[in-house]
Amino acid sequence: MSEDDLKSSQKLIPVVLFFICYYCSQFYFERYGGSGKSPQPTVSLCHNYRLQRKWESLKLNMSRKTELFLKLKDFFWKEHLSTAALPYGIKGSEKFLLKVLAVTSSYKMPANIERTCAVIGNGFSIKNSSLGEIINKYDVVIRLNDAPVRGYEEDVGNKTTLRLFYPESASYNPGIHNDPDTLMVLVPFKLEDLRWLKEILYDEKRIRKGFWKPPPQIWLGQAGQIRVLDPYFLRLTASELLQIPLQPRRQQKPVHPTTGILAVFVALNYCDVVHVAGFGYPEFRNQKEPIHYYGKETMKSMKNSYHDLNQEAKVLKKLEDQGAILYLHRHS
Ligand SMILES: *[C@@H]1O[C@H](CO)[C@@H](O)[C@H](O)[C@H]1NC(C)=O
Ligand SMILES: *[C@@H]1O[C@H](CO)[C@@H](O)[C@H](O)[C@H]1NC(C)=O
Ligand SMILES: *[C@@H]1O[C@H](CO)[C@@H](O)[C@H](O)[C@H]1NC(C)=O
Repeated sequence: MSEDDLKSSQKLIPVVLFFICYYCSQFYFERYGGSGKSPQPTVSLCHNYRLQRKWESLKLNMSRKTELFLKLKDFFWKEHLSTAALPYGIKGSEKFLLKVLAVTSSYKMPANIERTCAVIGNGFSIKNSSLGEIINKYDVVIRLNDAPVRGYEEDVGNKTTLRLFYPESASYNPGIHNDPDTLMVLVPFKLEDLRWLKEILYDEKRIRKGFWKPPPQIWLGQAGQIRVLDPYFLRLTASELLQIPLQPRRQQKPVHPTTGILAVFVALNYCDVVHVAGFGYPEFRNQKEPIHYYGKETMKSMKNSYHDLNQEAKVLKKLEDQGAILYLHRHS
């Protein structure tokens, strides 16, 4: 073989790889939703390749992280030492965290090989969508805060794998709206959030100070189902996905990601497929339109929030255009 021949056959390698992976991906989609048997090794090889490409196409300056929760043993690993305080790191929270993790620290996620995920936002846009049955078919369904399920099953389904929440957004009995296997994932925004959980888990006197809205004094979450989200995810949602400053300048109100965009970022890390519903807010000038599929809150209640909703909307649009997320319903 001449050198030229060699060169041209080398050029063919990516083409051949492409076809193999194309073939695999067709095969993958045919099996998808099927028997639940584990896929063939060749399929998952190509599958990983596709995932890696997809992740790279997001152009986020980080590798994919699929371990979501803080674990007790993290504290014995030097590499996890954090230089930032909450909400973007654990510095200064170690004492509360150790107590919380000591009783909640089992680490368990559904062990599916394929992880199709639906992130269900609380937005009004999901109302009358009749998506319930479709949502229930995903391997992982992620919900937010105290968004109800009972009475809304037709539109939002009734399966919940993970529920992201913080004390002010907790409903006092998570069991009412969740299935029994739901993992309750605390997003610690501040030291008080961990203190709240510690006081509940150890049944200590509740300290009410330090919240912008009184959190439940009684909370019926099961210790074994509680997890604490690694602040890594909030930090990178802010710094890489939204590109908002982690340290606000003086006089400036701090801006933090909403749990909604955080959940999307967590899903992009954890899941193979990320579909979303119930995202988006009404136009700002429309102060009277409801913002959730439940309750009576309107845009007015978001006026003083610590979020940059315009920036979040832009980023969601970009993720949609890149094919990283797919909406389950029409949206504006
Ligand atoms: C990427 O991240 C690394 C480490 O976090 C940082 O040092 C580097 O400046 C980042 N690069 C860009 C282009 O943002
Ligand atoms: C949803 O459907 C109900 C009953 O058909 C209707 O009264 C209501 O206006 C609909 N709401 C929206 C937001 O489309
Ligand atoms: C969801 O609803 C279906 C149909 O009503 C029911 O069979 C199933 O047990 C429910 N699942 C959960 C987790 O509540």
